[in-house]
Formats: sequence, structure tokens, C-alpha cells
Amino acid sequence: MTITKEIKANAPIGIFDSGIGGLTVANAISKHLPNEQFIYFGDTAHLPYGDKSPDSIKYYSIRIAQFLLDQKCKAIVIACNTASAIAYDTVKSFVGNKAVVINVIDPVVEHVANTQKIEKVGVIGTKATIKTNVYANKINALNPQLKVASLATPLLAPMIEEGFFNNKISRTVINSYLSSAKLKKIDALILACTHYPLIKNEVAEFYKKDIKIIDSADVVAQYTKNILSYHKLLNSADSKKQKKHRFFVSDYTESFEKSAKHFFKDKIQLEEADIWK
Ligand code: DGL
Repeated sequence: MTITKEIKANAPIGIFDSGIGGLTVANAISKHLPNEQFIYFGDTAHLPYGDKSPDSIKYYSIRIAQFLLDQKCKAIVIACNTASAIAYDTVKSFVGNKAVVINVIDPVVEHVANTQKIEKVGVIGTKATIKTNVYANKINALNPQLKVASLATPLLAPMIEEGFFNNKISRTVINSYLSSAKLKKIDALILACTHYPLIKNEVAEFYKKDIKIIDSADVVAQYTKNILSYHKLLNSADSKKQKKHRFFVSDYTESFEKSAKHFFKDKIQLEEADIWK
């Protein structure tokens, strides 16, 4: 699709998730694309998305997309697997040619389907994501030989959002999920929720480095760079002159502020936006 000429290359990139998960993608984007300003929206009022109905997830995603369009974003990165699985097509047709829309699933699917030496890949994600079977369908469309085993791990996102990782409780929950018979004999595991890179070390510990652990952050950041370059929308301005990133939430939470500061140092100022009226 040709993007409207009204979009400027120095416009911000909009990024959204239900909470802190998308910050893992935002962080990777800030490293791969240091000249870009981004506007982040964490829908903390509706977290977790993983147990919401498809209609609710589509409704939240559209309202957030409208908010990001109002901020004149040139791209909207759906930095949430659940919203990507359920609302990508809806957001894409809503946004039309007003901005580039990127989901976090397709870049990972392409990466996995083209990686040699994987015979069976595990997928862990929210109930809503796993229910769509989106990873198995998309991976098998590109590579029908690859076995895909999907497992819903609904406690993980709320646990991580609450700051529970790298501790005894998180290890117990993670180990109990990963011990599932479904995930036996996998060569790779897709962390199909943008919250999960925050527990990547614990997952790696469980597998004792025997398997490849794939998360969306770097793959999606690189994909965003390629697609913006394709549309000639990369910001060429010096990163020192770049405007500050902005962080919005639909409901203030201490854990969000703490995580945002963890990723982006203490320079951030959290803003609250009520976009539901
Ligand atoms: N980070 C999200 C995802 O990638 C959402 C988790 C949730 O809100 O349930 O699926």
C-alpha cells in the first residue's frame, strides 16, 4: 500500500501494548533506530488482554490506533501478540494509508520458518493468542514440515507486569508451564508475548541452553527499520535533535513507571490519557 504523502519522515512511531510488554519492543526500536522518536501507549486500564474477548481487544486496539494517529504517528507498531493475533487486520483497515501498521507476529514467523535446524518449535503466549493458532497457521503456510506445539501460559503476563521475575515465585510458575508434555522435544521456543523477554533468562535456565529461545524485540525492530526504509520514512535528522520519547498509560501504575524507567533510565515522564470517552 502507498502511504499518504502527508506523513512526514520526522513524525514519531506509535507503539502500543496492554502494559509494559511492548517496552521490550520499544527498547529494541530505540537501539536499531536511534534517530526516531516514539510515542508509547500502555493500556494498563485493560490489562491483561489475554483473557479478553476478541471484540474487546479489537475495540481497545482501534481506540489506541486513533490516539496514535491523532499524535501524527507515521507508523503504528502493535507491540502485543494478543492484539496482533486478533486485531491486526481490523487496525490495518481502520488506519488505511494514514500510517504503516506493523504486527509482532509476521516478522517472527518469517524468521522461524526460514531458520534451518528447527524441526519442532514451541510457542507460549496468552490464552487469546494461543486460541487463534496464528503461529502454527502462519509458520506452516511457509514451512509445512515444521512441527508447532502451542501452549497457553496465562499467568505469565500479569506476573511480569507486577514485577515478579527473577525470583522464586516466577521460577516455580515458569518451570511448571515449561514442563508440559506438549513442549517435549522442541528445538526452539517462541516467546509469543512481548512481556516474556523479561523472563528470557529464567526460560534459558530451564532449558540449560539446549534450545533456541526466540523473542520478537530485535526481529520486529529490524523489520520496522526495513519497512520504514521501503516507504522512505526513516528519519534522517541527527538523533541529538530528536524529540523525547513519550509514554502514555490509560491508568497510572507504579509497576509501569518502574519498568519504563528501567528500560529508558530516569528520563521518562509518564502521562495519563483517557481515550475512552
Ligand atoms: N504483551 C501482550 C502480548 O504480547 C499482552 C499480554 C496481556 O495483556 O495479556 O500478548
